[in-house]
Amino acid sequence: MIKVLFVCLGNICRSPMAQFVFQQMVDNAGLCDKFEIDSAGTEGYNEMAHEGIHYGTREILTQMKVPFSEHYSRRIRKEDYNKFNYIIAMDESNVEDIQALIGKDKDGKISMLLDYTKTPRKIKDPWYTGNFDETYWDVVDGCQSFLEFLKKQGKV
Ligand code: 4NP
Repeated sequence: MIKVLFVCLGNICRSPMAQFVFQQMVDNAGLCDKFEIDSAGTEGYNEMAHEGIHYGTREILTQMKVPFSEHYSRRIRKEDYNKFNYIIAMDESNVEDIQALIGKDKDGKISMLLDYTKTPRKIKDPWYTGNFDETYWDVVDGCQSFLEFLKKQGKV
């Protein structure tokens, strides 16, 4: 089982988008029983408010026919580091915040989603840009490239 945790700041825009886009790709490839996919945020305040997926993310997932279930924001926990094989952040500040919470990346599990693409870069936060389309296409690029990476590594 390959366990993948997508991580952003609030766990309401980018990481749930990546979670459900990657889940759809894995399902379409007939690989769903090989993966456990989840998402989390580096901030805890939404968890307290029991915050669901942002409407902008819901809207683009619906438009692009990506199935999604309800997901409530949660903060990444120390034990997530042991549980998951890949902890995939959206930008550099997520990586710094994850390391501040869970300590040193001793097993080299932490990466950024667009590191797997030909043009490594951060995924801009649509909470600030308002551009959920741009985020969606970045997420698709990253998820496709990550799945290709796993295939090349012989993991799937
Ligand atoms: P996300 O976006 O990290 O992609 O989920 C954000 C969501 C909420 C906030 C910031 C970023 N916030 O400040 O509440």
